[in-house]
Amino acid sequence: MISKETIQHIQGKIDIIEIIGGFVKLKKRGTNYLGNCPFHNEKTPSFTVSPSKEIYKCFGCGKSGNTIGFIMDHEKYSYVETLRWLANKYNITIEETESSPEAKAYQQVTESLFIVNHYARDFFRDQLRDTEEGIDIALSYLTERGFTPEIIEKFQIGYNPGARDALAQSAIAALYNPEIMNKAGLIVQRDGQWQDNYRGRIIFPIHNQSGKVIGFGARIIKSNDRAPKYINTPENELYVKSKILYGAYFAKSAIDKANECLLVEGYTDVVSLHQAGVENVVASGGTSLTTDQLRLIKKYTPNLTIIYDGDGAGIKAAMRGLDLALEEGLNVKLVLIPDNEDPDSYVKKIGASDFKAFVSREKKDFILFQLDVALKDAQNDSVKRSNIVQQMAETLSKINKTEDFAKRQDYVRRVSEMLNIEESGFNALVNKFLRDKIGKEQQQNFQTESIPFDDGQTNHQVDQYISDLVEKDQRHEQAIVRSLIEFGTKNWDDEKTVADFIFSELDELELMQQIQNDKFISILNSYRSMISDGQSPTLKDFMYHEDQELQRELIRIMENEPDLSPKWEEHYQAIIPKRDDLYREEILSNLYYLQLRKIKKLMAENQAELEKTKDPEQQLLILQTHQLLKNMENTLSQKRGTVIYKS
Ligand code: UTP
Ligand code: MN
Repeated sequence: MISKETIQHIQGKIDIIEIIGGFVKLKKRGTNYLGNCPFHNEKTPSFTVSPSKEIYKCFGCGKSGNTIGFIMDHEKYSYVETLRWLANKYNITIEETESSPEAKAYQQVTESLFIVNHYARDFFRDQLRDTEEGIDIALSYLTERGFTPEIIEKFQIGYNPGARDALAQSAIAALYNPEIMNKAGLIVQRDGQWQDNYRGRIIFPIHNQSGKVIGFGARIIKSNDRAPKYINTPENELYVKSKILYGAYFAKSAIDKANECLLVEGYTDVVSLHQAGVENVVASGGTSLTTDQLRLIKKYTPNLTIIYDGDGAGIKAAMRGLDLALEEGLNVKLVLIPDNEDPDSYVKKIGASDFKAFVSREKKDFILFQLDVALKDAQNDSVKRSNIVQQMAETLSKINKTEDFAKRQDYVRRVSEMLNIEESGFNALVNKFLRDKIGKEQQQNFQTESIPFDDGQTNHQVDQYISDLVEKDQRHEQAIVRSLIEFGTKNWDDEKTVADFIFSELDELELMQQIQNDKFISILNSYRSMISDGQSPTLKDFMYHEDQELQRELIRIMENEPDLSPKWEEHYQAIIPKRDDLYREEILSNLYYLQLRKIKKLMAENQAELEKTKDPEQQLLILQTHQLLKNMENTLSQKRGTVIYKS
């Protein structure tokens, strides 16, 4: 880490006019300086730099910030990179502080992961180019699909041989650490031996912004019902799926130049489009875009064009991401590829120049497109139409950055026209959503009224309450394990299995720590490692698990039958939904329960703090925290109330 003193030293040296003047031609106007904004196209200058305030502001596009922010934005540097750049400019020697043991350990892991990833990338590449198996099976497949040697080279595409442990053997012989290789997802342990994880698959390396390999996508060559089409690197210190855009490294400068980022679904779409000369393209990996991914795009351009096939799951995922994209201030356009094609197949079919023409001709505004689809669906149904009005008002209220005001008003006008309603009324509705949102945020931040801590229960009642809780706890914990095992391989939604969903919730909300029964934790972990090995775990895998105790625990769980009693079923067979139909509700309810438990724990800890402290300011802080937790608890209880659960 760069020391505080060095940072202060650098900040002391910064001359905003000199630095920004190095990128933008500035002219003095009174006390300020004026130039053409480098962040948007303009003919009359509205980019102002104030040396006394040490800030810049563009009155055209609204961008503003200090010198460091300017360099970060303009050069796409991180904060630390910017500091290094400035230090270099001003001849300041950088002092590094001793980093904490955790930071050091973390850095060691990431460095080792890079090292094994680079070894594996080169290994896979050599296998594809130089071995008989690689050429016959993989290279011929890629060639048949029309990929050129140059594009294969550029994207560093490779092949992992079909033998059990080609990579494992070679890497271990070269003294690479198998545990790190395993963390990187390259090899796995089976029957006490290290084996390759991507056997017989084409390998697409995934690069970070500076071109280092952070993971791999491994595609099966001949499709097969039992094996997944792609195996991806498991989450680790380098590979964080929610932050990855495949191809971003190769697309950076093209995106900048075109001031537009094209988004497709698959690895092969990115590679094909590059081959056709369309280089400003990245892939999301077929899931909804996350805020992190959107922010990455926003670093390069505010113009996002999604190219999906119209009836695929991707488009639904994209629709779900639309509100997030609007909140990030992106202008979202959509291009629908004809049925049964994807960008890869389509560009190969019609050729590069027709494809480019197709994209610019077919590009539609995503918000208006969504409205169009909804209106066609609703026809003259007045209930549906009024839902659409609400929905659109809410969507438009997501365009809420100050500098986007004009954009929002433009949409309000066009949307009210399409809906055939009065613009001023619709505008009022949009504003209501805007206000509601701000109001809600403030409520959550500042509520402090009446806080009933003591609910006056006697000791006996408390004891009873606790023992009830413990019993209930066990039931919910085991219910999660049970639904995982029974329904894990079913679909949660278009792109996630139930297991994916459960694990992402457990991780994201840090709920694993809430589970007290060690056996349950082992079952969850074991299930998770099976899916990351590409397996689809079944009840049998656990019923006959090598760990006897796990087996017994699982059998006990399965014995506890939460289904309806047989009598009920006789009477209401046709009417009452079975567990099979309700698994989503069941899972949500149990996850909410774990969240509630976590909040209860935090509340107890918080109260213990309150009893200890005498400082009134500290007390106030604790009381505010209590209220916040209480609010969260209420929200969760309400949510839990809305899902049906039989317990
Ligand atoms: P596609 O099935 O469209 O794959 O999934 P693709 O990349 O276009 O491959 P080809 O053209 O059929 O050979 C789109 C993306 O979804 C993710 C991958 O990132 C893939 O590129 N995906 C798909 C997975 O992660 N796992 C899968 O099993 C399937
Ligand atoms: Mn494809």
